[in-house]
Amino acid sequence: MCNHCDKKPYYITTPIYYPSGNMHIGHTYTTVAADTMTRFKRLTGHEAYFLTGTDEHGQKIEMKAAEAGVTPKEYVDKIVANTKELWKLMNIEYDDFIRTTDERHEKVVQKIFKQFYDQGDIYKASYEGQYCTPCESFWTASQLVEKDGVKVCPDCGRPTELVTEESYFFKMSKYQDWLIEYIESHPDFIQPASRANEMINNFLKPGLQDLCVSRTSFKWGVQVDFDPKHVVYVWIDALSNYITAMGYGSDDDSLMKKFWPANVHLVGKEIVRFHTIYWPIMLHALGLELPKQVFAHGWLLFGNDKMSKSKGNVQYAQPIVARYGCDALRYYLMREMPFGADGNYTNEAFLTRMNADLANDLGNLVSRTVAMIEKYFDGVIPAWTDAVDETVDNPLKEHCAALPRLVEEQMDKLQYSQALAEIWKVIGECNKYIDLTQPWVLGKDESKKDRLANVMLMLAECVRFVAVLIAPFMPNTPNRIFQQLGVADDSLKTWESLQEFGKLPQGIKVCKGEALFPRIDIKKELEALNPAPKEEKKEDKAEKKEQKKEQKQEKKEKKAEIPEGCIAFGDFEKIQLRVAKVCACERVEKSEKLLKFDLDLGTEHRTVLSGIAKFHTPEELVGKNLILLSNLAPRKIMGIESQGMLLSAVKVNEDGSESLKVLMADPSMPAGAEIG
Ligand code: MSP
Repeated sequence: MCNHCDKKPYYITTPIYYPSGNMHIGHTYTTVAADTMTRFKRLTGHEAYFLTGTDEHGQKIEMKAAEAGVTPKEYVDKIVANTKELWKLMNIEYDDFIRTTDERHEKVVQKIFKQFYDQGDIYKASYEGQYCTPCESFWTASQLVEKDGVKVCPDCGRPTELVTEESYFFKMSKYQDWLIEYIESHPDFIQPASRANEMINNFLKPGLQDLCVSRTSFKWGVQVDFDPKHVVYVWIDALSNYITAMGYGSDDDSLMKKFWPANVHLVGKEIVRFHTIYWPIMLHALGLELPKQVFAHGWLLFGNDKMSKSKGNVQYAQPIVARYGCDALRYYLMREMPFGADGNYTNEAFLTRMNADLANDLGNLVSRTVAMIEKYFDGVIPAWTDAVDETVDNPLKEHCAALPRLVEEQMDKLQYSQALAEIWKVIGECNKYIDLTQPWVLGKDESKKDRLANVMLMLAECVRFVAVLIAPFMPNTPNRIFQQLGVADDSLKTWESLQEFGKLPQGIKVCKGEALFPRIDIKKELEALNPAPKEEKKEDKAEKKEQKKEQKQEKKEKKAEIPEGCIAFGDFEKIQLRVAKVCACERVEKSEKLLKFDLDLGTEHRTVLSGIAKFHTPEELVGKNLILLSNLAPRKIMGIESQGMLLSAVKVNEDGSESLKVLMADPSMPAGAEIG
């Protein structure tokens, strides 16, 4: 029996993006992930609902609009239109696009705020504190960190401003114990699990402060209707979108009834805090259930730095899609890095993957299969025969038949990259099957025609399975494959049709078409994507001059006499020490000495092993800021790759035994801060 026919509702969201500038491939990444999951859930028989949108209020947008000499609404309208165009280009099929300037949203945010006030969760007081406008975040003086002698925002490193305002405050502290208990008793709520530890140890256990939830120093926000001097804090406004879009608090809340609680909020790792602390507390105060999961994915980095509009180091999707189509980019985004981890975006890695996975593996399999059916069977798919070679046919048949389950297992864990890896394993096996069965030899011998028929059918059926399963990731490609295979019947394109291997009917006519993904000349394409600058900019020249100077200095140092036992300054400079925040720590099985750490370096996570289990328990180190030698070549210890070394101080005791304490950095320093 098909267990996917109960049409279970499934609700997935992306963050609503700030329309402070056009969306780049970082935003595209989250949106493609949500779209892919929606399509997968629909394929597997769910009634899926996919919400995205824009977060349009706040001081940052107000300032951007003023710089551009337009009203905030005019400013965001333009970017929202571009964003919708981009999603169309990427073949994103959302069910709703909510804008926080929509009347349906604003009205309900006012209602929610009033309810919090009426029930005593919000109170009015005077506020003095530091505000980081780019992050739209409040900080206490002790939370700021020092950079070049200036106190700056611990998240983004930019200066904050002192604000003194009469404000409304949300009593977050009231819900703290409830939330700790909830997170601890719902291990799936925050994924990956290391993020849950981070929230508990870094924010909840140290104690939640009441949150300032209104502003009076600017106007561009949802007005507090019972106190019009105030606008609602942008995060209270923004987070509410997940329910206002579903009709919560309106005359028609049927979507809310059907789809809430959401199955998953996809968020970048930098906004987990808002989604797993403020949002659950807001929902709990409203008497609503919490989303089943908040999944924090990693960042697409650009030259090892987070892409960001404000830093200007961005890659946009449009030029890539214009040259290679949206399926190639969608595939790359979902395949390149495990969902949850960071990864560097480079055109070279993208082009290399296109050639290897799309042109070679998938493209060749389809074109070889279709070409051989044309050559040996006049393009008509033959019938199955008795000429089975169990040793080669059965493993492929079994693997392909198991593929839908293997893919679903990975998708249930949001492991998009692994799901694609499973599909590509079968593609690889098919290409090997061609080498093993050598159809070109069978084709020369009329008595082997029956065997050849089965070989062709095996391949064509595997290609059909692959085409159905890649549809959520690459929505345009399956139809191009089905056209070549001659499959017109829609019932052969469904998840149900994969319940049984061998459904491809005889007699349909294949039709060789264009290569799905033509092989590309990477060097040429790189030049086309990154044209060499015509004239070197002044700043580049200055930088080169500076580099030369440094090189000269290094050479000089090398020649200079270095006393025995000392190292040159140049050698010391090679050492990279960074503040590493411990997200998780556990003992390594079968080892008395080793502890395994999941360390946060701000822009990436590292796994590091350290032989300090005799001196520290894992529990005492979670949440601590340690010091990591971060550019030590990785090495494997007990089968686990250790990516760096933690520094410790060692003392030899009188009895010859050793005591050891791992070195710690000041807790106010952000993860990843450089030491030197
Ligand atoms: N407006 C808030 C979210 C409110 S949700 C109630 C916001 N907006 S944002 O424009 O800054 O977008 C943040 C989201 O865009 C991230 O959480 C992430 O999903 C995505 N990304 C932006 N840059 C990214 C990368 N470089 N890499 C991966 N995802 C990135 O925060």
